[in-house]
Formats: sequence, C-alpha cells, structure tokens
Amino acid sequence: MIPIKTQDEISIMREVCAMAATVLARMEKDVAVGMTTYDLDQAGRKYMKELGCKSACFNYKVGNSIYPAHTCLSVNEEIVHGIGSIKRCLQEGDVITLDVCAEYKGYVGDNAKTVIIGNARDEQDAYLVKHTQAALQEGIQAARPNGRVGDISHTIQRYLDRHQLGIIRDFVGHGVGASMHEPPQIPNFGRRKTGAKLRAGMTLAIEPMVSLGSPQTKMLDDGWTAVTRDGSTAAHFEHTVLITEDGPEIITVPNL
Ligand code: MF3
Ligand code: CO
Repeated sequence: MIPIKTQDEISIMREVCAMAATVLARMEKDVAVGMTTYDLDQAGRKYMKELGCKSACFNYKVGNSIYPAHTCLSVNEEIVHGIGSIKRCLQEGDVITLDVCAEYKGYVGDNAKTVIIGNARDEQDAYLVKHTQAALQEGIQAARPNGRVGDISHTIQRYLDRHQLGIIRDFVGHGVGASMHEPPQIPNFGRRKTGAKLRAGMTLAIEPMVSLGSPQTKMLDDGWTAVTRDGSTAAHFEHTVLITEDGPEIITVPNL
C-alpha cells in the first residue's frame, strides 16, 4: 500500500526535495516588513522556474476548489494553505509559515517552516515556533525501518503535550512521491506500535501543525485557508524524510 521507491525514484526525490528546500530558503531570506504575501508567493514562483521545477500546489484540486497560488503562506492565526494576497502586508512580529511543494520529473518534494518577522510580538510566539520545530525533529527521529507510523505520531504528540501546545488534528502528514499526498496519513497524535509498518525506501512528509491555544480549526471563505478558531497563533514545520536501512534521512535540504 505505501509506495517503496526504487533507487531511480529516490534519486529524483532527492533532486526535487533539494529544489523545494532551496526555494524555501530563498523565500525565507526575502521575508521582510512591508512585503505583501502576494510578492512573496511570486518570488517562490520565480525561484521554482529558475531551478527548473514547478509548484505542486498551483492548480491543485480538492473537490471543486482549485488552489490559485504557487506556495502556501499562512500568517499568525492561519495554520495552513494561506493564499498570498496583495492586501496582506507583512508586519513586525508576524508569524508566517512558508510551505513549498515542488514537482520535478513527476515527483514531489514538500517542506515548510515558520518564521517570526523581526521581534516576536510576545514570547509565547517564539516558544510556539521553537517547540514546533523541535517536535518535527523528534518525530523524524522516530521514523525508523521496522517501526510504525504510530511511533512518529506518538513521539510528536508526547513532545507537544509536554510543552502544553495545541496539536492540530484536522490536518496530517503524509507519504509523498509520485503525488503530493500518498499513503500513509501521519497524524501528529497517536499510539506507538500502531499503524502501518515503516520500511526503507518510503518517503514521508512529516509535519506538526501546532497552536498556542485551542487546536480547533475553521476554514476561511476562500475555501483553502485554515485558521485557529480562537485566533491563537499557529506554527508548522515540515520535512520530506527518506527512510533508509540506517534510519531517517531528511532530504529537503537546500543544495543549490
Ligand atoms: N504542503 C501542503 C500539504 O501537504 C501543500 C498543499 S498545496 C495546496 O497539504 F494546494 F493544497 F494548498
Ligand atoms: Co505536506
């Protein structure tokens, strides 16, 4: 059920994931007070073009909705799938998630990162971002051959519970490869030793989505942007991880 990539597929996955990571790193450098999220999305589009890949998000369809942007840019209470807008001008203290999903030679690489623009509005925001990133690192370490999906889920949950942060349950990590979303689903909560078995050659997008307050979500009228119901700040970190015989390897690493 869960695709095991061949050596040739793994080579392409390494390439596309390096591209996705490079685009994300370049966009992160661009982030500045006064910039609109539309311009940031356009920068992402340009970087993908320069690298010879394309956005896996642009024109992505779910039901009747077609995603209109090239990257997902989610600010403050926005959790995922925010759409860049000329009306959204970034301000000091904004907490923005850059989510870049690239496609190349028929394969997809997916990664995301949350950054605070300038000085944090309050120290809670910095706490949220720091511990969401750490939760991802913990989850990645649990992605081992002969382990199970639930080991990843449980490890992330345990870390975030310990830090009293809100785990978003309405969105999950996923297998990634020949399409953006492949089996398995990887929730950010769960029980160890449950779920599908992990094997070398799987490529997984592990992605804790976390709120400072309640984990309840709601969808904006644009049909894409998911926000926290209580308006509390959200953070989101994501890597594409290759499971090898020796353990997890992050392959969304910039190399260009
Ligand atoms: N990284 C996002 C995800 O895994 C990419 C979404 S693209 C969109 O859901 F088109 F669905 F927004
Ligand atoms: Co993803």
